[in-house]
Amino acid sequence: MLQNPASKYQPFVPVRLTDRTWPDAVVSKPPVWCSVDLRDGNQALIEPMDIERKIRMFEQLVKIGFKEIEVGFPSASQIEFDFMRKLIEEKRIPDDVTVQVLTQAREHLIRRTFEALEGVPRAIVHLYNATAPVMRRVVLGMSEDEIVELARTNAQLFKEIAAEHPNTDWTFEYSPEMYSDTEVEFSKRVIDAVTDVWQPTPQKKCIINLPTTVEHSSPNIFADMVEWTHRNLQRRDCIVLSVHPHNDRGTGTATAEMALLAGADRLEGCLFGNGERTGNLDIVNVALNMYINGVSPGLDFSDIDGIRATVEYCNQLPVHPRHPYVGELVYTSFSGSHQDAIKKAFAARKDGDIWEMPYLPIDPKDLGRSYEAVIRVNSQSGKGGISYLLEAEYGLQLPRRLQIEFSQVVQHEMDTLGTEFTAADLWRIFRKEFSMDISQVPQYRMAEENGVVTMNAKLNWDGQERVLEGQGNGAIDAFVQALSQSLGRSVRVMNYAEHAVGEGANAQAVAYVEVRVDDGQTMFGVGMDANIVSASIRAIMSGLRRAAARQTVAA
Ligand code: KIV
Ligand code: ZN
Repeated sequence: MLQNPASKYQPFVPVRLTDRTWPDAVVSKPPVWCSVDLRDGNQALIEPMDIERKIRMFEQLVKIGFKEIEVGFPSASQIEFDFMRKLIEEKRIPDDVTVQVLTQAREHLIRRTFEALEGVPRAIVHLYNATAPVMRRVVLGMSEDEIVELARTNAQLFKEIAAEHPNTDWTFEYSPEMYSDTEVEFSKRVIDAVTDVWQPTPQKKCIINLPTTVEHSSPNIFADMVEWTHRNLQRRDCIVLSVHPHNDRGTGTATAEMALLAGADRLEGCLFGNGERTGNLDIVNVALNMYINGVSPGLDFSDIDGIRATVEYCNQLPVHPRHPYVGELVYTSFSGSHQDAIKKAFAARKDGDIWEMPYLPIDPKDLGRSYEAVIRVNSQSGKGGISYLLEAEYGLQLPRRLQIEFSQVVQHEMDTLGTEFTAADLWRIFRKEFSMDISQVPQYRMAEENGVVTMNAKLNWDGQERVLEGQGNGAIDAFVQALSQSLGRSVRVMNYAEHAVGEGANAQAVAYVEVRVDDGQTMFGVGMDANIVSASIRAIMSGLRRAAARQTVAA
């Protein structure tokens, strides 16, 4: 890289707009959305869509709710032409959808484009020619006047051919290609020349589309350009002002959003931002940004994974796992502190509440995603994520100190294996750690007299079968007294919690006990059984086994 990039790259010259109003504007309604997946998006594919893929994409776009769809560039290839014919001849265009096609400003291409549209009930025909200085000077070798003339004569040709097909409801669109790199005064001159030919009216508007063909400036500069154009164009009330951002600087979404503030009425883009180089504007991103701002976008992404699957199939390109709103990982938190916050916010949330969820800007359920992937456990996770998964998947409500104790066990396993753990992995580790698969529960009998419980039990410990007897103010108390006497150690229950898991005949009680043997470290035990006393006894034995394994009591 260069020490002095300014020796090679010029700073972008901003528009002199000192009284800009767009920073204070608020978007309260959606723009007219136009999908260009089948044209600009398709043009950028390693393998352009075949007819079958095009139909799949078209139907998906209709299902999402697009009312304007650029379906191709019919003069560019036979397949583009044939696709247009197929849509028309097989009457695949719904009554509330208008198809759009693109053509360069060249006579034979324009004629071929209208030929492809023969018999269509409605259509937007989109004319473009380059206007930027580098194109005028280096590529086209044309003066400003010649560019204006090129646009004017081809606009005139549009008008004439369209008049020969009065049964179609025609809308004309014009794009000064590379508008973002063109002097705003010159863009205005060309656009005004085109609308002078088309003579749109407030009832029959034309579309003027401003592309950031290649994104060079920051979105605020583009917004200034759009506001300038919006204020200075002739016949503005007869124009639908559209923008067509690309994403070379990675700011396509911001560019579109600021352009809407600056006066644009319409957006052209692609699903998940497919398109030339770094892509077209990601329409899903802008629409869902609106949605989480409380504005209905008028597009339906409630099956976002289904849409992603179609787009991946048609484009034969994957959508990145971290792509906004749709990526596989975008609703997942690995970080322990994030998991903890999400868990607390979910617990506090009631149905119908405003969405206020740390680290989750949108409710994944609104897009057909589940909460399952919200919290995943890896070496960055803490107790929050682990206990969330055990609760969500297995109904366990671990006491806080047990969460801490168990997270150390998980961390140890994680350090050894170095992989991510699923809920099923955690459950397996949990069952093993707390000896929950030992099916045999100590045999016991209880009797109560005057509030004193006597417990007789038989259990295997230390390789010996032991017969115990103890008394206490309840079953647990009586059992630990009996154990203490039999082992000749002081066994105490420091904390106890229990709850039910499941319902009806399948309900189980889960008991959590924190035991201390002599003056050793406290240790949690967990027991699960259909009977609550048996669950508690299992839990005490589980804690005792753990203590023994850590040599705080002889095994
Ligand atoms: O990016 C662009 O400039 C285009 C035009 C042809 C509209 O796709
Ligand atoms: Zn484009």
